[in-house]
Order: sequence, then C-alpha cells, then structure tokens
Amino acid sequence: MQQDLNKCLVGANEIKAKVKELGEQISKDYAGKDLLVIGILNGAVIFMADLIREITIPINIDFMAVSSYGATTESSGVVRILKDLDQSVENKHVLIVEDIIDSGLTLKYLVEILKSRGPASVKVCTLLDKPDRRKTEVHVDYNGFVIPDEFVVGYGLDYDEKYRHLQEIYVLKEEIYHS
Ligand code: XMP
Ligand code: MG
Repeated sequence: MQQDLNKCLVGANEIKAKVKELGEQISKDYAGKDLLVIGILNGAVIFMADLIREITIPINIDFMAVSSYGATTESSGVVRILKDLDQSVENKHVLIVEDIIDSGLTLKYLVEILKSRGPASVKVCTLLDKPDRRKTEVHVDYNGFVIPDEFVVGYGLDYDEKYRHLQEIYVLKEEIYHS
C-alpha cells in the first residue's frame, strides 16, 4: 500500500457488488422513462462508468464540473460551474451521480440549479455518504456506502488529484491532509 494511505475501507469486490445492485434498482425504478444520468466530474467518473454499464434500460449521459471555493478538504458552499451540461434537462428524469456527499453543500446547489431548468424529476445517486459532516439537509435516493468522517481516496476520489485510479477506497493518513 502507498505510504500516504491508511487502511482499505471498501474493497473492489464490495464496490462491484454494490454498483451492480444500484444499477439494477435504477433500471427498475426508471423503466419506461426518459432518463438522463449526469456525472459530476472528476470524482464520479469511475463510479459513473461502472454504474451505467449495470443499467439495463436506455439512458442518455452527460457531465458537469463544479468547483467549490476554499480549503483543500472542506467544501465552502460557494459553487462555481466549470463545465455545464451539453444537453437540455427539460422534461427529462435526471439522476445526478456523485462520488461522495460530505457537507451536502455542492449537491444542494446542483439540485437547485437543475430543478430550475424544468426537468421531469431530479434524483441523486452517490457512491459514498459521510452523514456526520452534513451542513445542510439533502435527500439522497441511491446510496452505496455510509462511511465515517475520514478523508477517503481511490475509485475516482482524489487527494491533490492523486489516487483516483485505485480500485479500492482507502482512508488517507490524517497527517497528510492536516500538514
Ligand atoms: P460537499 O461538502 O459539498 O462536498 O458535500 C462534496 C465534494 O467534496 C469532495 N470530498 C471528498 N473528496 N475524499 C475525496 O476525495 C473525501 O473524503 C471527500 N469528502 C468530500 C468531493 O469532491 C465531493 O464531490
Ligand atoms: Mg476532489
């Protein structure tokens, strides 16, 4: 294991099984509906790629990139759109795919923006949820794993743009992000 990483929190097989389960549930829930799956760059990229291949109904995909101003491992709640969608969400059922919900501030903002654009519905699917850190109430419709309040990397999640390619989810050593 790399020296900055503490322990493996979620293994590759566990992730695979959960992603399959989520894909099956989403396929059931949206059967016969016009579904647009929106991945939030960059963190959700790996999860999104695996999840959509477990979805068995026709879908469209698109991506958005947002950045929250401020500290390195803390969300400030002020969110800026770096890349907007390429397609309209009007009258479509929208599913936002996130890597992790922490304070919930990013997600709250995203849901508000998308709802203002006239979609048929907006729901949220996240791989990880850190409920201890919530600063605002957000509704999560599909959740992979509830995790403790620790900074995690791997399977799309980064620290300083590193570790996104790892197949498992690891806890980053505290001295790394507190130094
Ligand atoms: P909020 O606080 O707005 O933040 O819910 C969500 C975004 O914060 C990042 N984030 C993390 N990234 N390991 C990461 O690699 C973590 O433990 C972590 N916690 C929050 C992430 O970009 C997410 O989309
Ligand atoms: Mg990040």
